[in-house]
Amino acid sequence: MYTDLQEKVVVITGASTGLGRAMAIRFGKEKCNVIINYYSHNEEALKVKMEVENAGGKAAVIQGDVSKEEDVKNLVSFAIEQFGGLDIWINNAGIENSVPSHKLPLEDWEKVIKTNLTGAFLGSREAINYFVENNIKGNVINMSSVHEQIPWPTFVHYAASKGGVKLLTETLALEYAPKGIRVNNIGPGAINTPINEEKLADPQKRKDVESMIPLGYIGKPEEIAAVAVWLASTESSYVTGITLFADGGMTKYPAFQAGRG
Ligand code: NAI
Repeated sequence: MYTDLQEKVVVITGASTGLGRAMAIRFGKEKCNVIINYYSHNEEALKVKMEVENAGGKAAVIQGDVSKEEDVKNLVSFAIEQFGGLDIWINNAGIENSVPSHKLPLEDWEKVIKTNLTGAFLGSREAINYFVENNIKGNVINMSSVHEQIPWPTFVHYAASKGGVKLLTETLALEYAPKGIRVNNIGPGAINTPINEEKLADPQKRKDVESMIPLGYIGKPEEIAAVAVWLASTESSYVTGITLFADGGMTKYPAFQAGRG
């Protein structure tokens, strides 16, 4: 438990599934007030609201597209209206699809960049604007990926978006450190969530992925949520501008493990 998180208001985008859901529940356990943004499935979001409340927190649900400026501004107003302010903002919403790069439609490129990178920009901008105007030492956390560092054939738009998030985070961290506002990335490896469902359902593909993870297993959403609460709490008060990889060692060149490679 991080007692300093009690009653803090946290906005989580794309929070009706996967990592967003796990973070919402964990922030609930920390007795936070959680704004659950969802994109399309109201019933999933309402279920997460119940899970947050059962865990000990308060929660409110709002639909919104993170790539739309008005929707993101709405998220801030909604947090103020529901819980009287804003302390922590998590840009978690993200999408991916696999297409050979030479055949990638512009439409797919734009959709992924708009959701993963423009969405993180709009969320960070609106949150930081609120923090600056209200003199709050707030906290922004962006959900990046090991693919801000590891190239990913057939996911060029995804890798480019997460590479962009890396420098977005580093730049904002530098710019707003004098105001005590911290901006960090979480870089998950392969985690069991809907984004990976299809890939991991195939036993051979699952084995291939596991073989790239020194700790030897696909991560659990709760293991990412644990990183998020630490980054949001004052326990990490001296940490800003980093990507905290929670990847079972995936970014550490597993091919070289045990003398291979
Ligand atoms: P997920 O598919 O369960 O979650 C993504 C969420 O974003 C969904 O709830 C979806 O509805 C929402 N979303 C999509 N477009 C949106 C939009 N325009 N506006 C608002 N919400 C939108 O998958 P997961 O794994 O929970 O993904 C969360 C984040 O973690 C993503 O940014 C993803 O890139 C990142 N990540 C996930 C990894 C994994 O292995 N699961 C690994 C590395 C990064």
